[in-house]
Amino acid sequence: MTDHSPDHAALFSNVKVGAFEAPNRIFMAPLTRSRSEAKTGEQTGLHALYYAQRAGAGLIVSEATQISQEGQGYAWTPGIHTDAQVESWKPVTDAVHNAGGRIFCQLWHVGAISHPVFQPDGGQPVSASAWTPEGKAFVGDRLDDGPQVAFQEARALRTDEIPRLIEDYRHAARCAAEAGFDGVEVHCANNYLIDQFIRSETNDRTDDYGGSLDNRLRLMREVVDAVCEVLPAERVGVRLSPKGGPGGTEDANPGETYPAAARALSGKGLAYLHVIRPNSHTGGGDKDEGVKIVKAMREAFDGCFIANGNFEPDEAAQWVAEGHADAVTFGRLFLANPDLPTRIAQSGPYNDPDEDTFYGGGAEGYTDYPSLEKVEDPLPA
Ligand SMILES: Cc1cc2nc3c(=O)[nH]c(=O)nc-3n(C[C@H](O)[C@H](O)[C@H](O)COP(=O)(O)O)c2cc1C
Repeated sequence: MTDHSPDHAALFSNVKVGAFEAPNRIFMAPLTRSRSEAKTGEQTGLHALYYAQRAGAGLIVSEATQISQEGQGYAWTPGIHTDAQVESWKPVTDAVHNAGGRIFCQLWHVGAISHPVFQPDGGQPVSASAWTPEGKAFVGDRLDDGPQVAFQEARALRTDEIPRLIEDYRHAARCAAEAGFDGVEVHCANNYLIDQFIRSETNDRTDDYGGSLDNRLRLMREVVDAVCEVLPAERVGVRLSPKGGPGGTEDANPGETYPAAARALSGKGLAYLHVIRPNSHTGGGDKDEGVKIVKAMREAFDGCFIANGNFEPDEAAQWVAEGHADAVTFGRLFLANPDLPTRIAQSGPYNDPDEDTFYGGGAEGYTDYPSLEKVEDPLPA
């Protein structure tokens, strides 16, 4: 990896990410691929190969992984709360480590972006307040009229349920450590549960978790602090998005809210803050406004800052060179290019992502994107 293009040189220096030093600044964004065991949320041998193929990333952030049954909202997504799920992740983390990489587990609770079919008691999904997301839940083969059915109304979590919710995050973080992950990323982005508390449109609570901005940020702070009791803070990252995500709701004043969230996460010694700017996958509206907020969040946060969202390698190198980010995550480019750092080093060529195989299915569109050099299957047949 020494003869990289001079245009991309900024992406090829070491960067400290909390407890470890990444060998490059080309990170892999979390990507839900919906290929886990349907009923158990366990991983298969394909997952080990998929992630090992991408171990050249400075850091891999795993696909979003539910912290509890209540936290699931899509068919075939992985979990990190049962013993069997932990066991199923071990070959994946081993494969990444054997290939020289590092992998964090993205801890996920979808909140309202769910459906009773996923809920442990078949009841309503939970959120900050009662509301019905716009759009459809992806239930896969769980209902005869699937795979997509209209969202139903979520109910507001009671104040006395929040300690149990926070304990679910603690438990999942313990499970992630046991499964061999190098750390965890608390998913506070894209209008999922923690973001539903942060965004004014989905939070009309009158207890300590609603009303003022400080109160809307409380769940995020408490979850992050709880996870940092289980893992060293330098192994805990956080993902935020000032805009975008499913469900159709936003914050009324993201330019104030999200820099405040970044400030609230400073001083904790976290591994990193990972921020999504508006992009063609998660949406988020006006790009210039989004970029302005992301830059204000960079200023407000005191640690390693990772940017994401429609970055091409040239712009990523420019952002790092100009100090707007310490590293950049690539989503769709990493999905389609397992050896992305090698390809960026020589300025391409790049495989195109195939949207038809993003979610669900098997090896096709998952482990069969060609590398310039083939990566062997880490698991013997
Ligand atoms: C197939 C797919 C699955 C995704 N799954 C997740 C996810 O599990 N967690 C998450 O935070 N973002 C998820 N995202 C958003 C990406 O991490 C990223 O923010 C988005 O794709 C923009 O980056 P890009 O332009 O480099 O692809 C997903 C995006 C795609 C395309």
